[in-house]
Amino acid sequence: MLAGKRILLGISGSIAAYKSILLTRLLVKAGAEVKVVMTPAARDFVSPLVLSTLSKNAVLVDLTNENSWANHVQLGRWADLMLIAPASCNTLAKMANGLCDNLLMAVYLSATCPVAIAPAMDEDMWHHPSTKRNLDLIAAYSNKIIPVEKGELASGLFGDGRMAEPETIIDFLIENYFRLDTLKNKKVVITAGPTQEAIDPVRYISNHSSGKMGYAIAEVFYLQGADVTIVSGPTNEKVRYNGIKVLNVSTSDEMFDVVVSQINEIDIAVMCAAVADYKPLVIADNKIKKKENNWQLQMEKTKDILQYVGNNKRSNQFIAGFALETENEKTNAINKLKNKNADCIILNSFNKDNKVFGSDKNQITIIDSSETEHNFELKSKAGVAEDIVSYIISKINVNSDK
Ligand code: CTP
Repeated sequence: MLAGKRILLGISGSIAAYKSILLTRLLVKAGAEVKVVMTPAARDFVSPLVLSTLSKNAVLVDLTNENSWANHVQLGRWADLMLIAPASCNTLAKMANGLCDNLLMAVYLSATCPVAIAPAMDEDMWHHPSTKRNLDLIAAYSNKIIPVEKGELASGLFGDGRMAEPETIIDFLIENYFRLDTLKNKKVVITAGPTQEAIDPVRYISNHSSGKMGYAIAEVFYLQGADVTIVSGPTNEKVRYNGIKVLNVSTSDEMFDVVVSQINEIDIAVMCAAVADYKPLVIADNKIKKKENNWQLQMEKTKDILQYVGNNKRSNQFIAGFALETENEKTNAINKLKNKNADCIILNSFNKDNKVFGSDKNQITIIDSSETEHNFELKSKAGVAEDIVSYIISKINVNSDK
């Protein structure tokens, strides 16, 4: 997403400037071209030499020296995005009021590109009414503020005001400025994780699904511009981008109800959840006590969400299901494809090299409605998600209206 993007990184005088080193490194690693502008005060916190080495560009601090004049207008026009990180209390005050007493401020005031700001300061300064007023003014000038984090501060106090971590800043930039619009106006629903079927108030039946695959697919769809909702069983996964909606459920019945409530708006559904096939016929009101040596629990089938969505599919909807088989993989997967009226089945290869559950890697085969197989290598779940989303994009008419 950041490959080839021109990022102008402004650094002001704050202890958080040490994070700008990693930020520069991550931006360059992601393929961005980075130029750094620092305030004179920032030099007390981080060396221009480190930043020029990492960015592979000269670091600019002064508007003029005896030999040259830094063209601030050109810098502001060169960039696709200006990021000021850290933005100290002093720099925020100058930005709010249009003061121009250093090169960073001259570049900011003449920038024609969007500007994102990552503030950093001690908690009391952060909560001061003038800081709040300055941030409101800066936001009103169409700049975006990257939220500060709570944590240990330079003063030794604990509270709000820490600059966001470099990885969080990168995610913020991608989400706010660099999403693609391939799937703009497309509504994608993804089921993810396990379900939990209660036996009594303290016990349930579930499985080892981690939710990682579903969450990875959701991220890739989101970066392609889609409106994404995850209907998620209980997992430890967190969404990386704030715009991805997560509807949390526990049971297969809850997952069914939430998916069905969205069915009319869905353009693409990917049923990634490991939904329980059976649930206890009766949920005991009280904890079941240990008695006989052998004990049987009566179970009933759960509702099949993929089958319901497949059977009620509109012509312009694309529905993908998953299959995890330990024997007769291809035959079973093809049967699922047909029985559930899906447009494709993504078959997880479950073997000694690919444990699927909980792993960060996966190996899949996509089988489409004509029973053609598309084989992929073992790779990270993020890489598998890219393959799945590219495949689905190739199968739908992305320009069609709803
Ligand atoms: N699925 C679903 N609702 C269910 C069961 C499964 O939506 N109640 C979906 C899964 O999310 C997956 C696909 O159906 O996309 C296949 O799930 P799987 O458990 O492999 O297949 P089952 O139909 O349950 O068959 P079996 O367990 O016999 O293999």
